[in-house]
Amino acid sequence: MLTNRPKTKILVDGGDPDETLRVKKLLGLVDGQTTNPSLIAKNPEIQQRIASGHSLTSQEEKDEYRKIVQAISPIVGDAGVSIEVFADLDTTAEEMFSQGEEMFAWIPNAYIKYPCTHEGLRAAEMSVRQRVRVNMTLCFSQEQAGAVYAATKGSKEPVYVSPFVGRLDDRGEDGIDVVKNIKTMYRNGDGHVHVLGASIRHLDHLLSSFALDVELATVPAKVLEKWATSKFPMPAKDFTYKAVGANGQVLKPIPYKELDLNRPWQSFDIRHELTSKGIQKFVADYRSTLKRSA
Ligand code: G3P
Repeated sequence: MLTNRPKTKILVDGGDPDETLRVKKLLGLVDGQTTNPSLIAKNPEIQQRIASGHSLTSQEEKDEYRKIVQAISPIVGDAGVSIEVFADLDTTAEEMFSQGEEMFAWIPNAYIKYPCTHEGLRAAEMSVRQRVRVNMTLCFSQEQAGAVYAATKGSKEPVYVSPFVGRLDDRGEDGIDVVKNIKTMYRNGDGHVHVLGASIRHLDHLLSSFALDVELATVPAKVLEKWATSKFPMPAKDFTYKAVGANGQVLKPIPYKELDLNRPWQSFDIRHELTSKGIQKFVADYRSTLKRSA
């Protein structure tokens, strides 16, 4: 059991209520959960249906998603459950927001995930006006996080932004630097955006997230299990992160940029190849569960 709680809230990065329960037993608490179309496609019941030849219609997929988050919702604490809209590269802000509003009503502690794209940011702008809580996902740059801040300024609820650490590492860049840069930039802000470390692949990512004082971290069950079996280590005062990739290669640093958070959000350069690739991957995983005609 976790006796010394970190300041960082711990969320499970997954799509299976049984797994969340297992982690909760192991840790004694789970502050929240994040889901996404790839994780929902991997849910054991959905996988079983597909294996037995029963692909889903898009309505059935949505119903399954709702059931999954409704089962997770009461298990977790006040960081809530993040639910992702189904968006491809052509989905408009209005379409995302309409899904978001519907999903937000599924559970009392929902956060709606929109991608860090122009349309996703517009959807976030609409959402915060209606007090629909948001988690801006597929964030790979400090500029995107700057735009999230500016687009959601005035939100009555905390807004989450999710920098994806592991996917930057995958292409040889130091994903932890993006988290660090965003935290530094937000020191000049009003605190309405909380940083949620995501795509956490190993214990060092987790410990660095703690050391950087991120407000939240979403972590796969297997990394949390490793943390538990290692007796819940915490970063020492002189903790330094070794920026090496999965193959031991040194990761390229990502430099800090001076950005003015008071600029209009549309003026930030939010383009990032990994955001588009991430959307395409979510679409592919989502479609893999659907009937051909759906
Ligand atoms: O929280 C985001 C996460 O689900 C993505 O992780 O390992 O697919 O990059 P990964």
